[in-house]
Amino acid sequence: MEYIKSKDIYLLARDILKLVHPRLMDHGSKVAYMVYMMLRERGRFEEFELADIVMLCTMHDIGAYRTEKGQISDMLRYESRDSMAHSIYGYLFFKYLSPVPDLAKVIMYHHMDYEQLQKVDYEYKQIAAYINIAEKMDIYSTSMGNQFDLYMFEPMSGTKLSSDGLELFYQVESKYGIFEKIKSGEYKRELDDIAGYMIFSNEDKKKFLEMLMYCLGFRSQSMVVDNITTVCVCEDIAREMNLPDAERELLYYGALIHDIGMLAIPQEIIEAPRKLEAEEVRQLRTHVEIGEQVLRDRMKSDVVNIAMAHHERCDGSGYPHRLKDMQMNTPQRILQVADVVTALVNPRSYRPDLPKEKVIAILSDEIAKHKLKKQIVITFISSYDRIMKRVREESAGIMKTYETLNMQYELIGKKYKI
Ligand SMILES: [Fe+2]
Ligand SMILES: [Fe+2]
Ligand SMILES: [Fe+2]
Repeated sequence: MEYIKSKDIYLLARDILKLVHPRLMDHGSKVAYMVYMMLRERGRFEEFELADIVMLCTMHDIGAYRTEKGQISDMLRYESRDSMAHSIYGYLFFKYLSPVPDLAKVIMYHHMDYEQLQKVDYEYKQIAAYINIAEKMDIYSTSMGNQFDLYMFEPMSGTKLSSDGLELFYQVESKYGIFEKIKSGEYKRELDDIAGYMIFSNEDKKKFLEMLMYCLGFRSQSMVVDNITTVCVCEDIAREMNLPDAERELLYYGALIHDIGMLAIPQEIIEAPRKLEAEEVRQLRTHVEIGEQVLRDRMKSDVVNIAMAHHERCDGSGYPHRLKDMQMNTPQRILQVADVVTALVNPRSYRPDLPKEKVIAILSDEIAKHKLKKQIVITFISSYDRIMKRVREESAGIMKTYETLNMQYELIGKKYKI
């Protein structure tokens, strides 16, 4: 069964990152378009290879979502002067958490001076050199407006920037009018068409969706651990209950992306070490509808419907639609239980994780109030130790990956003095 089309993986990634910072994602799309036009003109890659490159180029600044957190709008700074931090983090993110680790170094090198880049032995370094040109063209044409001169980077030709790349850019600009297409918005339609050539295997699609879930780590790494906990609990309950394979798969994807709208919620609210004000609670709750807007029309509706019901409750007291028990299906009810379990077994910003007896007492109370489905909670409680053992193993696995990633970030950072 196809849960998402290859093209929609790309569009979904773009929309999800837009939730964090729209301008940075627009920059990514424009750079991807410019590099695509250059490479197409060169004729070295097939359309489907270009499609992969477009995906990568669109996300070339993904590291900035983590490293520039409070100053992400100051693009001119980290795109011209302090460019190493986001290049390194983006590289490591793609290396450890994406299905295309081979392309990760493109991100590492996307700000490297051409003279230095020439000495590097790396198959795709030309793409990095082209991104470097494209992103300068975008950043400076945007910030300088009418003052912008296409040939202003000529003095950098052969030293900071690839002379061959610059020549190619001028050629493509005069032939196709790249800036005009960007100005009119026409480039977006062309990019969407290119996305139509993307072919991802089911395994790669799954990995891309997991990578999007890892984007929650830009907000906080504990949100990723929470998500992994929820997915594990869902999988185990579904197995214990002998749900058909098709439903288990729907539930897996629904659980994987259920909190993706959290990327649009301010950090201060997510990590507030106190009880939230009523207005903050209202804002926090919008993550469900925000997630739905991004996912609807991109993923199979059965998956979206599971994901978006994770805060509904059987007695109709949940949100956003106040659905009642009879209006929901088993995968939706399982995700609700798993989401509550996650909040109890993992630490929150305002309290530590809770012991087993307390978790069971709270869950039993939720059954008594007819909020959670009894049969599902009982299934969980009766396999509590086994399920939690797997949860702890999976969580430790991702924490280990983050540890390696953060350690390498420090090490490479020291080398480049960031
Ligand atoms: Fe950059
Ligand atoms: Fe950039
Ligand atoms: Fe949620």
